[in-house]
Amino acid sequence: MAQEISFDITPEKQASQLQFLRRQLFGGPPVLSRRDFDLSGKTAIVTGANGGLGLECSRHLLNLGVSKLIIAVRNEAKGEAAREALTTVLEVGQSIEVWKLDYSSYESIQAFAQQAEDLKPRPDIVILNAAFNRTDFALNLETGHEEVLQINYLSNVLLILLFLRIFKNTKSVTSPGRITVVSSDMAGWAKFDERNEVPLLKAFNKEASYDKFDRYSTTKLLSQLFVSEIAKRVSPSLAVINCANPGLCWGGMMGGETSAISNAFIRIICRSLSTGARALVDAAVRQDESSHGQYVEDGKLRPMAPFVYSEEAEQLTQQLWKETMEKLSSAGVKEIVESLAQA
Ligand SMILES: NC(=O)c1ccc[n+]([C@@H]2O[C@H](COP(=O)([O-])OP(=O)(O)OC[C@H]3O[C@@H](n4cnc5c(N)ncnc54)[C@H](OP(=O)(O)O)[C@@H]3O)[C@@H](O)[C@H]2O)c1
Repeated sequence: MAQEISFDITPEKQASQLQFLRRQLFGGPPVLSRRDFDLSGKTAIVTGANGGLGLECSRHLLNLGVSKLIIAVRNEAKGEAAREALTTVLEVGQSIEVWKLDYSSYESIQAFAQQAEDLKPRPDIVILNAAFNRTDFALNLETGHEEVLQINYLSNVLLILLFLRIFKNTKSVTSPGRITVVSSDMAGWAKFDERNEVPLLKAFNKEASYDKFDRYSTTKLLSQLFVSEIAKRVSPSLAVINCANPGLCWGGMMGGETSAISNAFIRIICRSLSTGARALVDAAVRQDESSHGQYVEDGKLRPMAPFVYSEEAEQLTQQLWKETMEKLSSAGVKEIVESLAQA
């Protein structure tokens, strides 16, 4: 269960369609200015940064003066095009590197984390933005897990843990490392029909019950459960880890997939990618230690999905934790978690 803090809205109200609409139409993240948040000297990593919200996060980070920006992409040609697009905001003393990262391969994730571990100075800010959705059911050929669960949950968790190891190994650096996991309103709408199944993660491998929207929503919910749990085991003086909601944004994953009428409606209520990305960067650079293990939306701490605070979530999170640790054990995650307790 997520750590109880007092919010000015209940989780149920936060997850209601009416509040969602209200946020879309009248909400928005605070403006971030370089005068208040100067990131010069810092290194930031954004995954899935070749387009959509990741590219816009990159642009905001450069505007805030970040010295080194690493754009992590599965397709290096797209990464180079993104780098090219970002050169218009690049200033003297800033650099952009394109690094290969394919969430569908543990080998790629581990090689990427090793590259990040070798960075000097160490990375300061990590925005785990990459995610995926698909209409048809498919299993990941390497791990045997359903592909959306693999990319949006298991691979994301592996990256969280590998970055925590980097932050632990460079603890002497005065400011805590920052990890922001990109979440979604849809976590609060997940039906999560698999929740009573044991083992849990394998239950997502049933093609007959695959539903594109519910699978995506559930993977975002599972990430919230994981972030709440890992935050209890990591001191925020070592790393502040939070989830952030960009709101519904036109572009990126959104747009063009539904009927013309729904598209027109979605377009009206959508934010721009730049606005959504600002909400994510706010969570990564402006929010303090109180956001550790929490969900940030439009510059404020907000409740995660209602399920996260339910009695049911307590036992389920332990089951999820146990299975996740087992699934990722070959990458040494148990040792990482043990070492974090001593850090
Ligand atoms: N747009 C919205 O309204 C909205 C709302 C709430 C939350 N979000 C979240 O915001 C984040 C960005 O979404 P977006 O709308 O900007 O969508 P997007 O443009 O499709 O961005 C997703 C990024 O993830 C990358 N990616 C997908 N599979 C990958 C893999 N196997 N390995 C590495 N990278 C992979 C994509 O790379 P390719 O270009 O190579 O496919 C792309 O760069 C996601 O976490 C999404 O869930 C979006």
